Amino acid sequence: MAVAKPIQIRFEQVTGDIGLAPATPPRIVDPAEKAALIERAGRLLKERNAVLVAHYYVHPDLQDLAQASGGTVSDSLEMARFAHEHTASTIVVAGVRFMGETSKILNPEKRVLMPDLLAECSLDLATPIDEFSAFCDAHPDRTVVVYANTSAAVKARADWMVTSSIAEKIVGHLHRQGKKILWAPDKHLGDYVQRMTGADMLMWNASCVVHDEFKAQQLEELKIKHPKAKVLVHPESPRGVIHLADAVGSTTGIIQAAERLGASEYIVATDGGIIHQMRKRLPGVTFIEAPTAGKGATCQSCAHCPWMAMNGLHNLLETLEGAPGHEVFVDPEVGKRAKVPIQRMLDFAKKNLPTMQGSGDA
Ligand code: 13P
Ligand code: SF4
Repeated sequence: MAVAKPIQIRFEQVTGDIGLAPATPPRIVDPAEKAALIERAGRLLKERNAVLVAHYYVHPDLQDLAQASGGTVSDSLEMARFAHEHTASTIVVAGVRFMGETSKILNPEKRVLMPDLLAECSLDLATPIDEFSAFCDAHPDRTVVVYANTSAAVKARADWMVTSSIAEKIVGHLHRQGKKILWAPDKHLGDYVQRMTGADMLMWNASCVVHDEFKAQQLEELKIKHPKAKVLVHPESPRGVIHLADAVGSTTGIIQAAERLGASEYIVATDGGIIHQMRKRLPGVTFIEAPTAGKGATCQSCAHCPWMAMNGLHNLLETLEGAPGHEVFVDPEVGKRAKVPIQRMLDFAKKNLPTMQGSGDA
């Protein structure tokens, strides 16, 4: 087994065909060029009355710019909430397509832009609307709960949308009302939620190309080498990996757990991009990337989402300069229907998670 080292984030290394779509990582930028690009992007955000909403998995430069310019870097629940409540007329989403679509569905009157519209998600790609619709039709007695990582059309077919930070609470709530669930698409998150809530859940069979690669046996070996390290796991990971966790949570949940647990070392089973924020909040603490299958892994960018890595400073600038091909469009009829399960989740969150915050608010 390879010896684990503290993580060096090398987004530039992500190349080639990854999973189901070609990922084209942004160009490498030298420090002087980088400073100029960041300065220009910050200026354009102001001039265009635009706000940058970034996910923890995108390049650290974009995370820092989002925070410095009054936007946010956060998990997908907070990204949706922040974009919904912000007054800017343009929302720039640095993340993957479902995140841009969710912002557009919630804000149909606003312009929603993304650095690369081809930034997909393996869960979204594995849930084609026709097959999903047939699955729902075959089980009309079930409440349809879909993960945020799905297309607008799939959301339009759902009763509820959830993100990883609120899935357990919402499914638990439905279970207590005696509802049976049809769950899609992530099988590992579904399995975790089922075990935590005891709900009757019929599952779609899909997984995240990044989290699916974390391996329990190698993680156990790593824990022996780092006996003081606490293990933080995103629930899109396989059951065996989750069993070894000291804390399981959404990306925001993982950061909060690191702050709460007070360890000097952490092993992190999620996309390595999150470690940028963890280092900022906990300087001097060591973060170790959880092991994947190494050379045998099918995910060629472990543990970095190939689609998140398509967001960079150059394509962000192109976007802000008004180049065509960056605006997110959602069919208004589909959008209207998709808004219902998203709004349900946001209303539930407002009532039940009043203190939720992204790192931009910290
Ligand atoms: P979070 O909602 O935890 O940020 O997860 C989004 C995601 O795509 C994880 O792979
Ligand atoms: Fe989708 Fe996985 Fe990438 Fe998250 S990390 S956006 S679940 S492919």
